[in-house]
Amino acid sequence: MERTGCDDAGAVFVWDLLVRILHWSLAAGFFGAYLTEDWETVHVWMGYAVLAIVGVRVVWGFIGTRHARFADFVYPPSVVRAYLKDVSRIRHRRYLGHNPAGGYMILALLAFVTLTGVTGLALYAAEDQAGPLAGWVATGWSEGLEEVHEFLANFTLFLVAIHVIGVVVESVMHKDNLVRAMWTGCKRRGDDGA
Ligand code: HEM
Repeated sequence: MERTGCDDAGAVFVWDLLVRILHWSLAAGFFGAYLTEDWETVHVWMGYAVLAIVGVRVVWGFIGTRHARFADFVYPPSVVRAYLKDVSRIRHRRYLGHNPAGGYMILALLAFVTLTGVTGLALYAAEDQAGPLAGWVATGWSEGLEEVHEFLANFTLFLVAIHVIGVVVESVMHKDNLVRAMWTGCKRRGDDGA
């Protein structure tokens, strides 16, 4: 059952336990894989873990608790444009769940982590004839795949940097501590009345 109470008066429960566990294990798995590029066995297992985490998160995005669902944070592009306009005038409203711009960043992070992982699997198959794609990818593709995989990993890292900057800026502007909220699940009650 979804927890509804938080210890602080005026705080409301937003991120369920699975969202929080998946978020911090995804962050650890992504950085772990990034830093173990030259340590193949560990790198490959980190890659499997990251793909599994994203898989579970996508399913949870359809069946999970209120703010975990894609339907809660994927807004029409017109709403995102209006939100970004308000951000540029420092007049944007506060959201209890992910804000409209943050929602698309989350989709981008999940997509690019997946693309990085899948090209990693293809590279593993081409180079070592190992992993679930073994036998499906020609050896001659190794060099090209290596470049694409590396580019995607670096691009994902760039997205993560923007993501973390967004979290810090949003925390300062709305006097929130979003990192703590992703740890405890609790946020100050928002002006969307939830
Ligand atoms: C130390 C680094 C990180 C910090 C401090 C951080 C912090 C956060 C915070 C505070 C949120 C909630 C944003 C909100 O309130 O709307 C969030 C969401 C999210 N972050 Fe991060 N993050 C970090 C690294 C990463 C990495 C490395 C990834 C992926 C590679 C990632 C992917 C996501 C995703 C997918 C969500 C959506 C959570 C969900 O709804 O499941 N984050 N992050």
